[in-house]
This record gives sequence, structure tokens and C-alpha cells, in this order.
Amino acid sequence: MSNLRVGYGEDAHKLVTNKPLIIGNVTISESVYGTLAHSDGDVLLHAITDALLSSVASQDIGYYFPPSNPKFKGMSSADILKDLLNIIKASHKVEILNVVAVVILDKPKLGKYRQEIAQRVAELLNLEANQIGVTFKTSEGFAPEYIQARATLLLSVVL
Ligand code: C5P
Ligand code: MG
Repeated sequence: MSNLRVGYGEDAHKLVTNKPLIIGNVTISESVYGTLAHSDGDVLLHAITDALLSSVASQDIGYYFPPSNPKFKGMSSADILKDLLNIIKASHKVEILNVVAVVILDKPKLGKYRQEIAQRVAELLNLEANQIGVTFKTSEGFAPEYIQARATLLLSVVL
């Protein structure tokens, strides 16, 4: 028997100059802005990580990797996601069916990175790129110095 479970997560970071912009483990080198963050500031992976944790009613990303702990400074969000997927898999038999996310960023346009981002996220979760749907929105100029991401996923937990 298996149970379908939904997960949901969000993240936001302030944008500053002279920092890399990393979205879904892909560096957007054309961006003049990058994220101000304790980790590498990958909002998409942070939102997906919380979606995953919430789907099994776990603690959240900050519980496992507190931003106040200097040990985690500059840590790759890809490593955080992989670590937490392994932690979940140690106690639950889960199969992720699909992941959908929206990234809100005014500039640059991200459509040309969609496939690469889907591929990277899929690799981190041991999925196929066609299981990762990512869309992009601007803030219509309301939040030009912020990047935000929201992610939901569906998984089945084998009981
Ligand atoms: O926010 P807005 O509705 O103006 O976005 C219109 C379209 O622009 C989106 O549907 C998406 O195709 C694209 N977009 C993008 N990269 C962004 C923001 C929006 O490709 N950073
Ligand atoms: Mg974050």
C-alpha cells in the first residue's frame, strides 16, 4: 500500500552585486546580481528541500542546517538537498512523482535555462528532467532586488 503526499516550500533572498546567482544548481553568469545568503543562496533548491521535508511532516531546512552555525557557511544547496533526501530515505520508502516550482525574478529572463535547471534538479533527486516543471515570473518591478521561489511536489510513501 502507498500514500500520496504533497509537499510545499518557499524561499527568498536579497540580491546584491558581486555575488553569484545560482538557480537549481545552475550559475546564471549573465546576471549582474547574486544572492546575499549564508549558503550559496539557491532559492529554488531551498524551496524544493522544504517541499520534500514538509511532505513527510519533517522539520525544515533551518532545523537541519541552521544559518547561525558557521559550519554550514557557503555550503552547497545541492549537498543540503542530497543529504536531506538521504535522511528521509533512511526512514521512509519514498518515490517522488513530480516537482513543480516557480522562480520570481525580474532580470534576467530565465527561459533559456529551464531545461538545464530541470536536468540538474532531476539529477539531484534521481529523477528524469520531465518530472521537474519550472516556470518563471517577474515581480512586475515590485521586488527588483529579491529572488523568490515556491515549490511543490508529489510523492508516494510506501507503507
Ligand atoms: O512576470 P511576467 O508575467 O511578466 O512574466 C512573463 C513571462 O516572462 C513568464 O511567463 C516567463 O515566460 C518569462 N520570464 C522569464 N524569466 C524571468 C521572469 C519571467 O523567462 N526571470
Ligand atoms: Mg535560502
